[in-house]
Amino acid sequence: MGKLAFAAKIAHVPTMYLSEQEGPFKGCRQQACDGHRAISQRMRDLGVDTVIVLDSHWLINNAYHINGNSHFKGVFTSNEFPHLLSNMAYEYQGNPEVADLIAKIATEEKGVTVRSHHVDSLKLEYGTLVPMWLMNGDQAFKIVSVACLCTVHDHQESARVGEAIREAIERSEGTFAILASGSLSHAIHPNTTLKTMEHFFTISNEFYKQVDLRVVDLWKEGRFAEFTRMLPLYAKTCHGEGLMHDTAMLLGALGGENYAEKVEIVTDYFEAAGTGQVNAVFPIAA
Ligand SMILES: [Fe+2]
Repeated sequence: MGKLAFAAKIAHVPTMYLSEQEGPFKGCRQQACDGHRAISQRMRDLGVDTVIVLDSHWLINNAYHINGNSHFKGVFTSNEFPHLLSNMAYEYQGNPEVADLIAKIATEEKGVTVRSHHVDSLKLEYGTLVPMWLMNGDQAFKIVSVACLCTVHDHQESARVGEAIREAIERSEGTFAILASGSLSHAIHPNTTLKTMEHFFTISNEFYKQVDLRVVDLWKEGRFAEFTRMLPLYAKTCHGEGLMHDTAMLLGALGGENYAEKVEIVTDYFEAAGTGQVNAVFPIAA
């Protein structure tokens, strides 16, 4: 019987990649990069063999989709920010068996259509690639990428996909982690304000920051019943990345409305290009 050993909500901002390169951004995201390395180490210590990444950069316009390829290899350049994130080489192994099982359980038992794809030309997005670049450069973990930039979806549907992920894990063999890769508020600075480097390190409106900080406090107190009730309006009002379907899916996997664990902050809240970011571990309930 498989086991979910670790879960977290994580950042994937391109400046984390640049922070590791020579140049003007070097070291600018040291705490966030160190947080990713700490998360990687914790997953290794727990014996994790497969990481399921809920990727808020993979846009989908109907149903739900999983990249179930057995092998991923390429050189990635972001079409959003080609000046920030380019020529990032990657190679990872997949776990098509669990990808297919998630889709089967969601579709047949949860009433939510989920498709697992085995198409070599279906590439990974950088919600998966940036964290894996920092955590999985030695291919220690197999990966499964789940689309979470959900344009026409309901948060409760996404929670049911999360339930299917958890059940697929428990019907598989191995030790798993789930990483919800996406921001809190996500109102990127207007283009007219992009005059200085400062915009990479600031929030676009104090309102978003104050709501984000309140949300982080709720998470630290384990108040997910309240958070779940506010999630749809919060995601809409504060432009949550992928409308925060990664977070809805994560909570579905962790027990839904019954989840009440106190989140551990690994990297303190930080501002990035108008958005609010955090690295936070969500303990698995006993
Ligand atoms: Fe993003």
